[in-house]
Amino acid sequence: MAILPSQPIGVFDSGIGGLTVAHAIRQLLPFESMIYFGDTAHLPYGDKSEAAIQAYSVKIADILVRKGCKVIVIACNSASSAAYELLTEYVRKDIHIINVIDPMVELVLQQFGNKRVGLIGTKRTVQSDVYSRKIHEGKKGIQLHSLATPLLAPMIEEGFFNNQISHEIIAQYLSDESLNNIDALILACTHYPLIKNEIKSLYDNKITILDSSEVIAKALKEHLEDERLLNKLNTPPAHHFLVSDYTESFEASARMFFQQPVQLERHSLWN
Ligand code: DGL
Repeated sequence: MAILPSQPIGVFDSGIGGLTVAHAIRQLLPFESMIYFGDTAHLPYGDKSEAAIQAYSVKIADILVRKGCKVIVIACNSASSAAYELLTEYVRKDIHIINVIDPMVELVLQQFGNKRVGLIGTKRTVQSDVYSRKIHEGKKGIQLHSLATPLLAPMIEEGFFNNQISHEIIAQYLSDESLNNIDALILACTHYPLIKNEIKSLYDNKITILDSSEVIAKALKEHLEDERLLNKLNTPPAHHFLVSDYTESFEASARMFFQQPVQLERHSLWN
């Protein structure tokens, strides 16, 4: 069956982090409808094995394809590093998969040649070494210094940001000497844009904080334009939010981002 422009965009993450990407997509592509899957039953992904994340990602891709998505955005760095290649093999070839890593690597290569760039992300993302491999392959003389910050995603998922506790945890991580004298910091976890202002203020706004949500939305728009898959109906779209386990923090965040009530539908990965 041919892919139609009116079909929705599938977006997934372990939890609320990918909503930062979904929000940017909604801003840039207001007439596209989205099906968002938050795998809240299995978060955090950052501490899971590559095999476990691959298994969850395959199941989620199956659900998004069955629901008729025209493209799938892996709005999660941990899943992008563990399962992107696998999904491109596994999912039918006419459904394009967008990961959060490649558009960010491209931006860093364009803008930060010969600079010192820091990166914070989950253990899975940092251990995968995918950013440093790709940035190194770009041969722009960039020195990348990566630090795993495993407490941050669970903290944000629990709604702990912009407060004393989050401030102290973030400050502790950012004081790591590997992040000294950096020119820019990549937020290599889609949960982290929610603490971007806290991070900025810790650096006195002196360095560039790179958050992938907008570059991903742009990469998606380019793909839809190239493939003539932009939705042509100028009617406000309906978005659907699926979660593998119901959590109040997810519902509150989704409502906050979309500034409208969201209906959460529980959907197990295993049926
Ligand atoms: N938001 C995710 C990421 O970009 C996952 C965080 C987690 O579940 O550990 O890596």
